[in-house]
Formats: sequence, structure tokens, C-alpha cells
Amino acid sequence: MDKRFYITTAIDYVNGAPHLGHAYEKVVADVLARARRSLGQPVFFLTGLDEHGQKVQQAAQELGQSPQTYCDGLAVQWGEFVRTLGLSHDDFVRTTDERHRKIVATLLDRLHATGHFYKSAYRGFYSVKEETFLTEKDRNPDGTWDPQWGVVQELVEENWYFRLGEHQAWLIDHIEKHPEFVQPAHRRNEVLGFLRSQKLEDLCISRPASRLSWGIPLPFDPGYVTYVWFDALVNYFSIPAALGDPTAVAALGGTAPAGSRLSAWPADIHLIGKDILKFHAVYWPIMLHALGAPLPKTILVHGWWQKDGAKLSKSTGNVVDPLAIIGEWGLDAFRYYVVRELGIGPDGNWTDEGFRVRYNSELANGLGNLLNRAVNMLNKYRAGVVPAADGTLAVEANAATEKTQSCYLANDPQGALIAAWELVNRANLFVEETKPFHLAKDPNQSARLDSVLYNLVECCRILAVLVQPVMPATADKIFAQLKVCGEPSDWRQSIWGGLAPGHQVGAPIPLFPRKDLVPK
Ligand code: MSP
Repeated sequence: MDKRFYITTAIDYVNGAPHLGHAYEKVVADVLARARRSLGQPVFFLTGLDEHGQKVQQAAQELGQSPQTYCDGLAVQWGEFVRTLGLSHDDFVRTTDERHRKIVATLLDRLHATGHFYKSAYRGFYSVKEETFLTEKDRNPDGTWDPQWGVVQELVEENWYFRLGEHQAWLIDHIEKHPEFVQPAHRRNEVLGFLRSQKLEDLCISRPASRLSWGIPLPFDPGYVTYVWFDALVNYFSIPAALGDPTAVAALGGTAPAGSRLSAWPADIHLIGKDILKFHAVYWPIMLHALGAPLPKTILVHGWWQKDGAKLSKSTGNVVDPLAIIGEWGLDAFRYYVVRELGIGPDGNWTDEGFRVRYNSELANGLGNLLNRAVNMLNKYRAGVVPAADGTLAVEANAATEKTQSCYLANDPQGALIAAWELVNRANLFVEETKPFHLAKDPNQSARLDSVLYNLVECCRILAVLVQPVMPATADKIFAQLKVCGEPSDWRQSIWGGLAPGHQVGAPIPLFPRKDLVPK
């Protein structure tokens, strides 16, 4: 059984409304997953929902519902969201799934048995909103608490702690020796800076069930439930383990059932936003190290979207509704825009105008117009029949293909689109340079016209393959118009010369209907 390329997204809080930030992360992960599959790698792509914790318990209480009923209702909405984004995930985890809860309990038991936890009394401050303990360092200079913490309570409480601090030197060493572990590099430096500058506190991994019951009970002390992050992070591991992944099962002290279907652990990419870096680059590797499990290869950290230069916020109404955009402009246009606009790393800024400009210039006038002209002229001048093969643009097409491929493999989907558009632009320029509409009027130029038409249609066929991870439906439409066999989701189709002379293409249908450039 081959190990699959395993890619995950953060699991979204079930009680938040799906927004642009969630959509971006899921689409980027989907693009990387599809690109790998297209290149012949078996993939396991996991996404899902984070459902435990105080906020969920409180919201359910306010509605007079059980937390489970409340989560089940919201999960339907999230399921719809994921479907609308066209994700190709292989599994969808909910932290309330029995399969996940069981593995979390096993993992806790193992870490407890091997001495990684201790119980201790704590007196201090607690933010209900952020479900975290605060120290004097978190106070404002005037002694007040920042509004981000919500209501802050003073507590005296016994809890269970994870000996995080013991692993600090090991983690620094691991990150120093594995530059690919946290990407991009400035995020790696951020983690190293944090680890080198302060002593890691042990992590409180329990909450008394009397205060918070909506969680996974600690198997060795039923008066407590598991801290929500300790539960949530384990999703990446619990699903492969539950599906019989031999490496994950072995780390829990078991043996994989005969004929188990999956080999995925360790994960190749955990794709996350910048705000949850510490959980993924500090807590998670230490949890796995304590368990004796192999670590994920890369934590890939994206930036945050704003809209019109301000934070996305439901309360101020500064939101982008991905579902409304998809309804108006189409799924592939949305996927194209978010991937092309924001590379993995910096923060991004959504403007409706920016979206319209890219749609019109790069999709409608770029790729769409190229296909339309190519198929139209082939129909008009050659009755839709592909002429003799010719390789005038082959070198440039191959270069674009190679560049696109290496960008996908380097987790740079924005770079992949930029490389693919070098070919879109080159082919459109080729039309201007060769003027096939003039050539068509001169019978002596018939061979030249054949060569121009072959190059244009062949570029379109190859472009379908290059853009497929980002725009799967568009790629299918291109193949359908060209009536070519094979799948654009197979990278081997990007080799120059795949169009056979004598092949009959279909009728031209616009890929991206032009929209008015005037702002609404
Ligand atoms: N439930 C935790 C993650 C647990 S992972 C084991 C969580 N959920 S979240 O719903 O708040 O965020 C989910 C993902 O969306 C995170 O990676 C987060 O960074 C990302 N984003 C949330 N808002 C965002 C933007 N405005 N822009 C881009 N991504 C953003 O954190």
C-alpha cells in the first residue's frame, strides 16, 4: 500500500458562519490535492469541523438545544459550504464523531501512562471567550483586561497539565534541522524567535466537567473534559488511525487490521492560517513527539484576508459572502481569483473591483477569449478539423507546463497560475502576430494558417491541464469543446502534440461570459 500525500486544513469552528477566510484555505488545500493527484500521486485530503468547547455549549444552552443537536444543525450548513466550494476531500471529520473521540481517549491514556501529565492546583484568571488561562502579563498597563478576552473570571481549580516545557530544546532543534517544517520562512523565524526568547509553560489540557461538559472526558479522570485544542489538533491523526493507517495505529500501541485501506501518516501538509501557528508548530509537534509518532512534514501558513483594507467582521458588515460571489460569477471564477490574488504567506485584500478586473482581463479576455477564437477560427476556416501537427509554440508551452508543475509541487498555486498565464498571453499574442483572419483570405497562406490554428488549439488543450487543479469545471469544458478524449486531471495530457490531425472539434461556447467593467 503506497503512502498517500496527506494534506489537511484547519477544522473550522462549527458555530462560526463560513466566510472568505475559511473558503480560501479550503480551496488552496483542494488545489494542492488536485495537483498532486493529477501528477499521479495518491492523495488523502482531510477537512472538517471543530465542535467542542464552551462557546458551543453556551450557544446551544441559549437556544434550549442539546449541544449535539445544535452541532448537527450547523454541520449541515458547513457540509453545503464544502460542496459549493467543489472540494475533492477524501474524508470529513467532526470532532464529535465517535471514531475521533475514541482515538483522543486512547492517545490521552497513553500519554498519561507514560508520565507526560500531572495534576496541579491553579489560581488565576480565565477567559471564557477564548477558553484560555491568562497571566498578569496579559493585563493592560492600567490593570484592565483587553476586550478580546471577554469576561475574565478569577478561578482556583485543580487541572491536568501536559509537560510541554520539557520538550522545548528538542523542538528548537527539530525546527532548526528541518527548514521545511514551518513555511514560509518568516513564519518559521517567528516560531523560533518565540521558542528561543521564553520558557515554554506546561499546558493545561483539562477543564472540570462541572464547568464545561461539552468535550471528550479524560479517560483517566472522569471529572474532567479535554481542553478543546488538545482534542481538535488530534483530528489530523485520529482519522487515519481510525481508518487503520499502520503508522498511526502503531504509535498508539496497536497493530493495523489486516487489509486496512489507508497509509497516510505522517501528514505532508497542514494548511493553516497565521493566527493558529503556535498551536500547530509548538503544541502539536510536542504532543506527537511525546507519543512517539512521526511528525508532519510541513505546516504551511497562509495570511488573512481583509476587505477594502479592513478586518472581515460580521458585526461591522465588512464581509465577503463566498456563496453569493459563486452564485453571481461561478465557482471557478471564485477559485481562480482567491488563488491568483493571494499567495501563501502575506495578507490579502478583497475588493469587488479587483475581482471584476481579474475576471474580465484574465478569465474572459485571457483564457476565455483564447479558446473562443481558436475554436471559432478552426470551425470557420477548417470546418472544425484539426490540421497537420506543428510545433511553433511547443518550446514555450513546454516551459510553461514545467514551471506550472514545479510551482504546484512547491506549494505555490499562485505561481502556477502566473506560469500558466504566460502561455495564455503568449498564445493570444500569437493571434495578433500571425493574423489568421488575414491569412484566411490568401490561398497561398493555407499551410501557414494550418500551423497557426494547430498551435492555438493545442495550447488551449494543454492549458486545460495546467488550470485543472484550480478550475476543474473549466478544464472539463475546454476538453468537451475540443471533443478530446482523456481527462484534463491527468498531467500526462499536457505533452505537446496530443491533438491528432483530422480530429473534429466541437462548437465554440464562451467559458466566462463577459461582464460589464463599470463598478456596480
Ligand atoms: N477550530 C480552529 C482550528 C482548529 S485546527 C486543529 C479555528 N477555527 S476557525 O474557524 O476560527 O478558523 C479556521 C481557519 O480559517 C484557520 O486556519 C484560520 O486562520 C482561517 N481564517 C479565519 N479567518 C481568516 C481570514 N480572514 N483570512 C484567511 N483565513 C482566515 O481556528
